[in-house]
Amino acid sequence: MGQADYIKNIAKFGLENDQERLLLALNELIEHSKQTKKVNFALQLQSILKEGLRVNQTKGLTKVGSAKYLLKEEDQHLSDLIIDKLTSDFTFENLVCSNEINEELNFFVKEHNGIDVLNSFDLPVSNKILFHGPSGCGKTLASYVLAGELEKLMYVINLGAIVSSKLGETSKNLTKLFKKAVSEDCIIFLDEFDSLGKVRDYNQDHGEMKRVVNTILQLFDYLPQNSIVIAATNQVEMIDDALLRRFDLKLKLDLPGKAQIIELINKTITKSPFKFKTKKEFNEVVSLSEGLSFYAVQKSIITAIKRTLFKMERIDNKNLFIDSSIPQIRT
Ligand SMILES: Nc1ncnc2c1ncn2[C@@H]1O[C@H](COP(=O)(O)OP(=O)(O)OP(=O)(O)O)[C@@H](O)[C@H]1O
Ligand SMILES: [Mg+2]
Repeated sequence: MGQADYIKNIAKFGLENDQERLLLALNELIEHSKQTKKVNFALQLQSILKEGLRVNQTKGLTKVGSAKYLLKEEDQHLSDLIIDKLTSDFTFENLVCSNEINEELNFFVKEHNGIDVLNSFDLPVSNKILFHGPSGCGKTLASYVLAGELEKLMYVINLGAIVSSKLGETSKNLTKLFKKAVSEDCIIFLDEFDSLGKVRDYNQDHGEMKRVVNTILQLFDYLPQNSIVIAATNQVEMIDDALLRRFDLKLKLDLPGKAQIIELINKTITKSPFKFKTKKEFNEVVSLSEGLSFYAVQKSIITAIKRTLFKMERIDNKNLFIDSSIPQIRT
């Protein structure tokens, strides 16, 4: 197809209000423009696309199309591996974490924004990052934050699907997928990275699995500096040492300490008109939250707000106090 055909499709799908096909056609034109060396035009289209998606989106993340429409016919078999392609509006503001983690993530973003300077001094750029730690402590969120801060599109890859899919195809598909993401300047987010190690437990073909791990090692080693891979796992001990070594940054996102619980609760309640009646009640909730994940703490607070709301006989907007006797907070 030539440029005129893509434009005709864009006009057609736009007028038909077919958002998914419109996005697909736009993505195709961007890719076509890159291949035909109209790089500036491609970049302009990409920024129009991102801006449009940002305006339309509601909750921080916007899918740029389902796997089904995203892929050209010859790439349809990749759809098992790709969960989503999305843009993110999350920023550092959304992530509660220690100063050290915050500093590392900020530096990572700084490196990518200053990539030309680093290149001109022949300095390497960190581009492979592994988040590990217990469930519900922000691994996925931190990945969205990086995508948002770097204003890059992100492919979310379902490595868990490897376990159930035909391993023989996996190496080939992963290679195709990396190539695709690199050519589109997208972040590759490999969730459930431990699946690569887990397969061994499932008594599957070891040789084949080794091939998959080797493929990943090679893809990592030949990844262009400006491309980014983020991996996440809550079972870091399952991951091969050779794979672990390839990451420039390995960051543990752990259970929140007291200061982080306070920050999270404050962030959560300032989004609603509710508050705690007394400092004492707030402190009690904080100490009951110790040992829980960020997710569990946030969920308890939101559930308590909802329950309080339904218990109220009359809604007085000036005095919306969270009922801290509600068991969701107490347990
Ligand atoms: N560090 C954090 N700061 C703020 N909110 C958080 C944090 N961690 C978790 N949350 C809240 O909990 C939700 C779930 O967190 P997330 O999906 O990032 O956890 P995860 O570490 O990826 O867990 P899993 O290992 O189960 O995939 C987030 O969408 C967010 O609302
Ligand atoms: Mg996750």
